[in-house]
Amino acid sequence: MINSIILAAGKGTRMKSSKPKVTHKVLGTEMVNLVLRSMNNLGATNNLVVVGYKKEDVISSLYPELEHSIVEQHKQLGTGDAIKSCKEYLQDQDGITFVVSGDTPIITDTTYKNLLDYHKENNFDMTVLTTDIKDPFGYGRIIREGDRLEKIVEQKDATSEEKKVLEINSGIYIFDNKKLFELIDLLDNNNAQEEYYLTDMVKIFIDNNLSVGAYKTLDHKEIIGVNDLVTLSKVNHILKKRINNQHMLNGVQLVDKHNTYIGINVVIEEDVLIYPGNQIYGQSTIRSGTVLKPNNTIVNSEVGHDCEIGPMCYLRKNTEIGDNCRFGNFVEAKNTKIKSNTTAAHLTYLGDAEIGSNVNLGCGVITCNYDGVNKHKTTIGDNVFVGSNTNLIAPISIDDNVFIAAGATVSDDVSKDKFIIQRADTKIKDKK
Ligand code: UD1
Ligand code: CA
Repeated sequence: MINSIILAAGKGTRMKSSKPKVTHKVLGTEMVNLVLRSMNNLGATNNLVVVGYKKEDVISSLYPELEHSIVEQHKQLGTGDAIKSCKEYLQDQDGITFVVSGDTPIITDTTYKNLLDYHKENNFDMTVLTTDIKDPFGYGRIIREGDRLEKIVEQKDATSEEKKVLEINSGIYIFDNKKLFELIDLLDNNNAQEEYYLTDMVKIFIDNNLSVGAYKTLDHKEIIGVNDLVTLSKVNHILKKRINNQHMLNGVQLVDKHNTYIGINVVIEEDVLIYPGNQIYGQSTIRSGTVLKPNNTIVNSEVGHDCEIGPMCYLRKNTEIGDNCRFGNFVEAKNTKIKSNTTAAHLTYLGDAEIGSNVNLGCGVITCNYDGVNKHKTTIGDNVFVGSNTNLIAPISIDDNVFIAAGATVSDDVSKDKFIIQRADTKIKDKK
């Protein structure tokens, strides 16, 4: 059985932000969710997220589809104390426990898996994930005696000799679960920060004749812990490169891979062409043959085959566009379903709408979905022509084959095959 503890109670003082550190996003996903996602991918079935600072904000940011439960650490007395707060929930569980940091978001599933294999193959009771890094400042140092791991020393407690060590603690560990909780109360806070350091468990395990190992990974970039906004930006950059390369290898053409932002859960099929400035986040899917012209933002939405989207289109959330559709500049949609062969070429807002196929939405069509209190639905059938600058006052339903001439404000339902024109006469007079 695999358990995990995700440390997410700290404020993150060095972020200089009122938001809890782990809720800051990397390519549209909160750091804590990236870590929780990896634990779920590994098959961990019991994932405890330790919360404290602004706990409501952390809890509400967690993706409900990722298995987790919440443990509160009342005072942030250190990483070791955070583990103590899990004792009553976990101490009786068999198996192993991953301890991971909510601020170390881009470790790959492969590295987690390698760590797990190494832990099992060597029958260790505790294994630490480490790496060599050129500038180890701020990290805990891995102190070895020969090959054997001896202890971890924090930056603030390290001697000048220890500070020269380039092998650092990633803050990621695997423990034999029962042994962890049998010994956790032996931690003290006799150190420079007067905190309970989880890192001291290395020495405690060794003193209790348990076996401790260190698995060193070669890719130090994965291990970066985010403590400030400079590092957050760096982590964004690294993950972007990793995700974009994968999409290109899968047959997605990125005109400028440096200037394309794709979240970790986004699915993009072969033969999609993406121009610069696109941001695609959340659970979004782009089907084959589609072209994303420059500067669209697409969140939790699906775009069908052979569409042309943008430039500057905003699919805000829960939008589903069918095949062969064309959505042009300054078209915004949310909670909207559109069938195939439909066009909204420019300046349109579609909110809470259901739209058929072969519909032409002229320039400036607006679904007026909000009455100041509630949101209402707009339904448009197949083969409808909605002329430019039309306001559709929801709730409203426009049936198949309706033609609405430009400039109408329509507030009543319209049945099949009707033609609507609503326009004041134009008066043409001589100038004075
Ligand atoms: C920690 C390690 C350090 C390692 C580094 C890797 C300790 C003592 N040090 O240092 O050896 O090199 O991570 O990035 O563990 N947290 C809580 N409750 C607390 C304190 C922290 O939940 O009481 C959480 C934080 O929200 C954060 C994580 O634990 O997600 C790590 O805490 P942080 O203060 O960033 O530790 P570092 O100083 O980076
Ligand atoms: Ca940290």
